[in-house]
Amino acid sequence: MRIVVLISGSGSNLQAIIDGCNDGRINGSVVAVISNRPDVKGLERARNHGIEAITLDHRNFDSRETFDAALAQHIDNFEPELVILAGFMRILTPTFTGRYLGRMLNIHPSLLPKYPGLHTHKRALEAGDSEHGVTVHFVTAELDGGPAVLQARVPILESDTEDTLAARVLEQEHRIYPQAAGWFCEGRLTLQGNAALLDNTPI
Ligand code: GRF
Repeated sequence: MRIVVLISGSGSNLQAIIDGCNDGRINGSVVAVISNRPDVKGLERARNHGIEAITLDHRNFDSRETFDAALAQHIDNFEPELVILAGFMRILTPTFTGRYLGRMLNIHPSLLPKYPGLHTHKRALEAGDSEHGVTVHFVTAELDGGPAVLQARVPILESDTEDTLAARVLEQEHRIYPQAAGWFCEGRLTLQGNAALLDNTPI
């Protein structure tokens, strides 16, 4: 399957997806990487693998709608079966999410539905939680609200800081995102209404 990956920064999850395609865990190939921010490391990672790396700077657009329309045009030029948001830090319009409903995944660094939005590690630490984690989910119009596909849990240690906790979560992100993308590219993972199915069984 053809995969387009959207990024905004370092692209460590992009790297995990590229690695998954290269080692066979994902039956697909990343055909393009699009960043809403220029000169980020993720674009360099794409170029290092001969993958088309495009910057679509959201500051050049006068509205969320016009940016999303341009983004959709760029994505559709590559005719992907799967769109992956990997550290993509833009809120997307319902028109955009509707266009890719059922074939767009996101990764969010919390055990959704806990802690949608930003600063999830800080919030988990401040809440005194004993565990934290990460969720891969289908993207719907609801921010960080689409049906979960796969989660991973990590313990929160007494000694944890935001950075040590984020690093432990990131390790799990790099493990479960390729696994979820792999399921999709084998045709095993589908969205039916607001439910994610694996082999036609609700997750
Ligand atoms: C990660 O914590 C991811 O969960 C979040 O963005 C952060 C950076 O991701 N969505 P990456 O290194 O740019 O893939």
